[in-house]
Amino acid sequence: MCGIVGILGRHQVAPIILDALRRLEYRGYDSAGIATVNEGRLDRRRALGKLVNLSDHLVHEPLPGKAGIGHTRWATHGAPTVVNAHPHRAGRVAVVHNGIIENFRALRAELAAAGLAHESDTDTETVAVLTRHHLDQGLGPAEAAFATLARLEGAFALAFLFDGEDDLMVGARQGSPLAVGHGTGEMYLGSDALALAPLTDRITYLEEGDRVVITRDGALITDAQGRRANRPVTTVRLDQATVDKAGHRHFMAKEIAEQPAVLGAALGFHCSPDKTALALPEDLDFTNTDRLTLVACGTGHYAAQVAKYWFESLAGLPCETDIASEYRYRHPVVGAANMAVFISQSGETADTLAALRHVRARIGCSVGVVNVPSSSIARESDVALPVLAGPEISVASTKAFTAQLLVLLLMALKAGQDRGHLDGAQVAAHLRALQTLPGLMRAALDREPAIADLAQGLAGVNHALFLGRGPMFPLAAEAALKLKELSYIHAEGYASGELKHGPIALIDETMPVVVLAPRDGLFAKTVSNMQEVLARQGRVVLISDRAGLAEAGPVPDSLVMPEVPDLLAPFVYAVPAQLLAYHAALARGTDVDQPRNLAKSVTVE
Ligand code: AGP
Repeated sequence: MCGIVGILGRHQVAPIILDALRRLEYRGYDSAGIATVNEGRLDRRRALGKLVNLSDHLVHEPLPGKAGIGHTRWATHGAPTVVNAHPHRAGRVAVVHNGIIENFRALRAELAAAGLAHESDTDTETVAVLTRHHLDQGLGPAEAAFATLARLEGAFALAFLFDGEDDLMVGARQGSPLAVGHGTGEMYLGSDALALAPLTDRITYLEEGDRVVITRDGALITDAQGRRANRPVTTVRLDQATVDKAGHRHFMAKEIAEQPAVLGAALGFHCSPDKTALALPEDLDFTNTDRLTLVACGTGHYAAQVAKYWFESLAGLPCETDIASEYRYRHPVVGAANMAVFISQSGETADTLAALRHVRARIGCSVGVVNVPSSSIARESDVALPVLAGPEISVASTKAFTAQLLVLLLMALKAGQDRGHLDGAQVAAHLRALQTLPGLMRAALDREPAIADLAQGLAGVNHALFLGRGPMFPLAAEAALKLKELSYIHAEGYASGELKHGPIALIDETMPVVVLAPRDGLFAKTVSNMQEVLARQGRVVLISDRAGLAEAGPVPDSLVMPEVPDLLAPFVYAVPAQLLAYHAALARGTDVDQPRNLAKSVTVE
């Protein structure tokens, strides 16, 4: 996924675009570039790697102009090279793009036959070359862009800039988000409101299929059928504090530390003022729901797998989970009595959005559990539930994960109440227990020095295994994902009971086996699995509470966690999972907030 920005400004735009791109760099950082129009002349600068390289380039080769577009790339088609970096230019037009043009090869061949060559390997350059072709045929700039857009298939958020036009920008949205920002005598385009936060809080979100022609006087939006569309101008308040590290070394550290406050605020929002009853939308009604499907990608999918235990135990509701990239291509049997929940931090993940669209017309109720209330998944679901974690900048998801767990747990309580499995008093009792969650999260965070020590033992290995039972099993998988994506160590999360069915062959004295085991009803089973590892000289790291560690007997390494109610264990044990990965990455010197090959939200297939 990439980040795009456009500005028709009153001042020199290159440094302003660079600053906006810094707030989009979490979306991809393989290369970056800016194009501007200065006194009618279109020009561009591009650089490989992080934005700082483009910044250096601009110092040596300034790019004047008060109209410009910018891009930070996560490579899809074409390796990360300068030639493949955006903006792509063909004659009098420059283009930046987020998404995938799925028919670009056919268009490329058509253009080659017309004598129009490409210089890069990207799908985006084809958009520029095709627009140039339309310009050469005598179309005006906006018409040339529109004629190009009519030929494109796939997902795109695009911004066009034209030579000779320093008060014109064209944008389009299909499958990838794009927002219009309204300034004073200035206008903007951005992949999200975060990019434009220092410039304006007045945002118009383009809808699917929208095109927009922008001048400094305003924006003219037309819908997919070419009709004038009046999209609302909303006020999106994102103060500066939400987009900086607040004194932490990394955004990830900040976001891990924010979890007690985030969970406390989300509880307040989704419960009655006296916190004895739920305050979820009326449309979220499980009364006539006979089956629930939870769909997500990555970390969201592990939250779904934890929640499956809650929906079944608290509400007696049959619940299945699926990864979105599989769900969208299978033939789920759905009907009016089914509910599907789509869990996504960004609310823009292409696979999860496609999964929603795959069943929305046939299912009884679709629910979006998202961290971005204005996102596509939120807007296209029947019911949208915000997790209220605040902007999550670090590519590795942490506070959004535990906030997703909270909303899913509250949904499970609502399901239990709607289906007569829980009465008001029982729900109130669970909510009372949940009031202790912020304090328990803080207690877990206080273990950071001990967790950092344990992480040193992980930093030098090539493989690691995480074990858990019950809701701790998906948490083990989430812990493995964090270690993989942050420190590039191969790791797997396994159900403890599965060890003897194959993975125990992996055990030797070199591979850490991290056991996530609060002293719950399954503890004894997990300890016996752990003994199987110890009997084979396995390097066990047991993460449990004091009573659990006493019962388990001597282990090579351990971490004492606070005592927690079973229901809250997945939240509290997420903290060591996150901090182990964070400190292992620090020890290995990887880029914590922007790990290699990743992007914060994958808005392409
Ligand atoms: C999480 O640490 C990963 N960065 C990744 O798996 C992420 O959870 C996944 O891409 C889904 O993103 P979403 O929640 O924005 O849909």
